[in-house]
Amino acid sequence: MTAKTRIVLSSDHADIKLRQTIAAHVAELGYEVEDIGPMTSESTPYPKHGEEAARRVASGECDLGIIVCGTGQGIMMAANKVKGIRCGVCSDTFSARMIRQHNNANMLSMGARVIGEGLALDIVDAFLGAEFEGGRHATRVDMITAIEG
Ligand code: RB5
Repeated sequence: MTAKTRIVLSSDHADIKLRQTIAAHVAELGYEVEDIGPMTSESTPYPKHGEEAARRVASGECDLGIIVCGTGQGIMMAANKVKGIRCGVCSDTFSARMIRQHNNANMLSMGARVIGEGLALDIVDAFLGAEFEGGRHATRVDMITAIEG
């Protein structure tokens, strides 16, 4: 991905500060950032925010998405319901790299109540720094897409 890559960020109320810190970090790296909120810590359902971010990626408006909820799990499940989305929850940098290289993930989810800010930023760097390897992995990713019907 180049520095022109457009990245959408969203979260639920679990940790808007972490999301905003990630957004600032991603912008500092030179990527175009679309942080779609929420902007307050008022309780708000993660499926709504997972879907909103995922729709921007699925439509091509954004190239990649980064989403956050308490565990990263619920918002990931919602995002993956949108056709064309491949989102993984990561709590380590190896997985973050591999979901790009092997699974061509277009969204990354993290759990704000699982990992700290430093690790979250390293995970983001690993995700954004990796490229899909294609080849045999493309065949498998195509099989995932085929399941969508
Ligand atoms: C909200 O309290 C919490 O359930 C949510 O952030 C997330 O962890 C769901 O998967």
